Amino acid sequence: MNTLPDSIESVLLDEATIATRVQSLADTISTDYTGVRNEDLLLIGVLKGSFIFMADLSRRLTVPHRVDFIALSSYADTAEASGSVRMIMDTRADVSRRHVLIVEDILDTGYTLSYLQRIFGARQPASLRTCVLLSKPERRIVHVPVDYVGFEIPDVWVVGYGLDFADRFRTLPYIAALKPAAYQK
Ligand code: IMP
Ligand code: MG
Repeated sequence: MNTLPDSIESVLLDEATIATRVQSLADTISTDYTGVRNEDLLLIGVLKGSFIFMADLSRRLTVPHRVDFIALSSYADTAEASGSVRMIMDTRADVSRRHVLIVEDILDTGYTLSYLQRIFGARQPASLRTCVLLSKPERRIVHVPVDYVGFEIPDVWVVGYGLDFADRFRTLPYIAALKPAAYQK
């Protein structure tokens, strides 16, 4: 019998469901960027939450590309969005004249992606698109255009497949809802 960790309420998306969806996102993205010149496509992953999604997605792309990462300030171990986003590590690569694809774990209020689209949009990329594994439409405060969405999920705190609560649960192979008692003080 498979027992779930204590703070896990239920599994929302199992390993096979995630893998199938990531493959289809990769297929779509590969088609959309066909013909882009060698190494002109740059995937920018937002640490830490996107690291597993980024690894799986990038390995399934059939178009040549490079990967880079940025890090942002987080919610400081609470489940509340603050609306203030700060870059604590920038890309190494110069994004100008590159086709930039931002890869993020989850679109929640929209503050993070609207900040990133503003920052990278100002750096003269050849194009700028956004890919998120998860989206919680009910939580949106700022409207953000997103080009690729893996799954829309309800307004629950999820962990696993890179996503955390207070830096825990990232390496679970599935995406699961956390018991409210685990994040409500
Ligand atoms: P936004 O700026 O509110 O859209 O928040 C996006 C960021 O909040 C994501 O990159 C995650 O780091 C974090 N986040 C939002 N909801 C969840 C969740 O359910 N689990 C884990 N992290 C989350
Ligand atoms: Mg994140």
